[in-house]
Amino acid sequence: MSSSLLLLLLLLFIVPAFMLEFRYHSNREMEQYLLQVNASNPDITHLYSIGTTVRGQQLWVLALGDSPDHHTVGVPEFKYVANMHGNEVLGRVLLLQLIEELVRGYRSSETWSLQLLHSTRIHILPTMNPDGFDNADNNCVYVQGRFNSNGADLNRGFPDTFAGLRQQPNVNEQKMEPEVRAVVDWLKSETFVLSANLHGGALVASYPYDNSNGGPELVGGASVTPDNDVFLHLAKVYSSSHAHMSKGNQCEDVSPFQDGVTNGYQWYPLEGGMQDFNYVWAQCLELTLELSCCKFPPPEDLPALWTDNKQALLAYIQQVHLGVKGRVFDAAGVPVQGALVEVRGRQNLCPFRTNRFGEYYRLLLPGNYSFTVTYPDHEVLTDTLAVPYGPDQFSAKQHDFLLRRTTTLTGLAPTEPAQADLTPTCSQRLNLAGGGATARWSALTVGFSLVVLRSLVD
Ligand SMILES: *[C@@H]1O[C@H](CO)[C@@H](O)[C@H](O)[C@H]1NC(C)=O
Ligand SMILES: *[C@@H]1O[C@H](CO)[C@@H](O)[C@H](O)[C@H]1NC(C)=O
Ligand SMILES: [Zn+2]
Repeated sequence: MSSSLLLLLLLLFIVPAFMLEFRYHSNREMEQYLLQVNASNPDITHLYSIGTTVRGQQLWVLALGDSPDHHTVGVPEFKYVANMHGNEVLGRVLLLQLIEELVRGYRSSETWSLQLLHSTRIHILPTMNPDGFDNADNNCVYVQGRFNSNGADLNRGFPDTFAGLRQQPNVNEQKMEPEVRAVVDWLKSETFVLSANLHGGALVASYPYDNSNGGPELVGGASVTPDNDVFLHLAKVYSSSHAHMSKGNQCEDVSPFQDGVTNGYQWYPLEGGMQDFNYVWAQCLELTLELSCCKFPPPEDLPALWTDNKQALLAYIQQVHLGVKGRVFDAAGVPVQGALVEVRGRQNLCPFRTNRFGEYYRLLLPGNYSFTVTYPDHEVLTDTLAVPYGPDQFSAKQHDFLLRRTTTLTGLAPTEPAQADLTPTCSQRLNLAGGGATARWSALTVGFSLVVLRSLVD
């Protein structure tokens, strides 16, 4: 009796390794796999749905970590998203293999896997567009299956800061697609720090911005963020950890990329993209990873494609430990939400703020940085921090900011920077991201042919 129970338990742990073949699993099979991994690893996995598609399929996310079902102060949230273009399918396979690898490494007590799951909470959404996947054919370049069931390109469907700057938000309010809405709500539910979004049709790590309105961000044909040094580093970590992405000229009909990386806008501008939204509105640094020249690689290529990407996928997660993290406390010693945590020389369109635990996470390369922390009724705090390279230690530098109450001098309060910290336009946009929507669909309505031309690439 007890020996058969033992056998059953053993099978629960052993079977997954044999079940996950290198092939394209249907949405149903993928769901069953995730349910089974979740059921057999309750200590390190948590399966949840962020919403449903147009056709009512669940958008399943598997979270992995020591406390997989909730945020832990000091433990950064990381995510991978694949298959938002339903016909770009390699990412689905890679993320399932990654789940398998993380669980296997943890179960066999491999140091890197233990360290990663002790220090990080990793969220994996293997398909953001299962409806599109159901429609996809196995063509390498065409767009069959790219869109959701409403015919929308999900990577053009997010509220766009630059469009919002051009025209006042609210003017062109449109309904978000359910898959986009699910991701926007997801971003509000967790403070994601680092992310990547897996595509196909090229071999390159692309970083924000994807769009521009011709303002100061436009530098020599690129649309450059205030954190360009960090983005360039992140993109190069992926490309140089990949088997051959950094060679930069791997796909015949796509332009060569120096070091296998590119600024998104410089490659080709697009509006309503997911990576810009993550960075600008949710303070989550996201890359768009193009992982195969062919959007639907033949199944026999999958083992080699996994081998090409495995180290890069793991090394990239570890980058969530760059920079500095900590909490902001008010004069009473209570962690505060909404405090502005700014780094000199980095004028983010929406300034980074502490989350509901009073935490901030700031990805930075090693160096000395001047931080300014602003919170109503408290003195502006400025501190210079020496930032080491965190990923090797699986932790960013930890630093808490302790605020002091402003001395009440009559007449001074209204001009205190703390009173003026709300940057109304950005707050409005953040609220819009939750309530209404500012997604503009002009790119889609201009004409299908334009969309097809552009979408041939990624
Ligand atoms: C995941 O597994 C846990 C533990 O067995 C279970 O309680 C939970 O319902 C599972 N989640 C899903 C979505 O099935
Ligand atoms: C940071 O400042 C310290 C002195 O406070 C100095 O020794 C160090 O070289 C600086 N690091 C960088 C990267 O500038
Ligand atoms: Zn794509």
